[in-house]
Amino acid sequence: DWTMDSLIEQTVKEIRKKVNGHKVVCALSGGVDSSVAAVLVNRAIHEQLVCIFVDNGLLRKNEGDIVVETFKRNFDMNIIRVDAKDRFLEKLKGITDPEEKRKIIGNEFIEVFKEEAKKIGGVKYLVQGTLYPDVIESGSPVAATIKSHHNVGGLPEDIGFELIEPLKMLFKDEVRQVGRELGIHEEILNRQPFPGPGLAVRILGEITEEKLGILREADNIVLREMKKHGWYNRVWQSFAVLLNVKSVGVMGDERTYEYPIILRIVESDDGMTADWVRIPYDILEDISTSIINEVYGVNRVLYDITSKPPATIEWE
Ligand code: XMP
Repeated sequence: DWTMDSLIEQTVKEIRKKVNGHKVVCALSGGVDSSVAAVLVNRAIHEQLVCIFVDNGLLRKNEGDIVVETFKRNFDMNIIRVDAKDRFLEKLKGITDPEEKRKIIGNEFIEVFKEEAKKIGGVKYLVQGTLYPDVIESGSPVAATIKSHHNVGGLPEDIGFELIEPLKMLFKDEVRQVGRELGIHEEILNRQPFPGPGLAVRILGEITEEKLGILREADNIVLREMKKHGWYNRVWQSFAVLLNVKSVGVMGDERTYEYPIILRIVESDDGMTADWVRIPYDILEDISTSIINEVYGVNRVLYDITSKPPATIEWE
């Protein structure tokens, strides 16, 4: 596609000219926007770019390995992987309020990122995966409020670096096209959105290692089964939520008293409104049976049949 080609070439030239030999950092999350932005800047100024991947301990199963390996292997990118799990979990101890969780995770992320950038030294620019809709929306106060809520977990504009925003003129589908042209795998380009605060806002109440372990396994099964049945790319999001109550069940001759998992599968255009998905019963059954059989600590699976509004997509 020649228009995409020339768009990429033009952007690469502009980035080279702007960066002019200075050092650049980016926060690689594995999400579509940050991935495409990083690969594009990497094409322009490979030597000067360092990507920072922060493992906050709230990520999906094997997420760090998948992201770091994908971008190292396919694009030879300079990536620093930071294991910050203990820091985040320490700060989150005893915290149950959803907005407080978000605030803590957001602030800690900024701290970790700043520290790493400081270690690199002499960094002048930061890559941000800002899209055109983000640019328009920041003009409206209502939209900006919603946006700031939905972007919790990212980096603020005033973090102290000059910004490089190579996707600023693009819509989401164009970002995917650019990504495709750059050779980024469809698996990455078609990922469902995942919130910055990660599994923390899908564990109701206090976050513990035990609960994280349970939810991570359940989430991985939802992902696996949705892909297996060809439904992963047909919905906006599909994920598991762990409740902070227990209920009675029976396993063999034993009475169990364990957590329930809520299954949330929604259709949406932009996350602002959403519909619960009328997914076939046999897929629900597969997911439920797999979770019960494979995840220790869960004895019940429920399906959330509420749309947004009045419910939100996430449970926190
Ligand atoms: P809600 O739950 O508000 O979610 O209906 C709408 C969309 O936003 C995502 N979401 C977040 N994304 N940081 C993020 O980066 C957050 O704190 C956050 N909260 C919700 C959610 O996954 C859905 O796609």
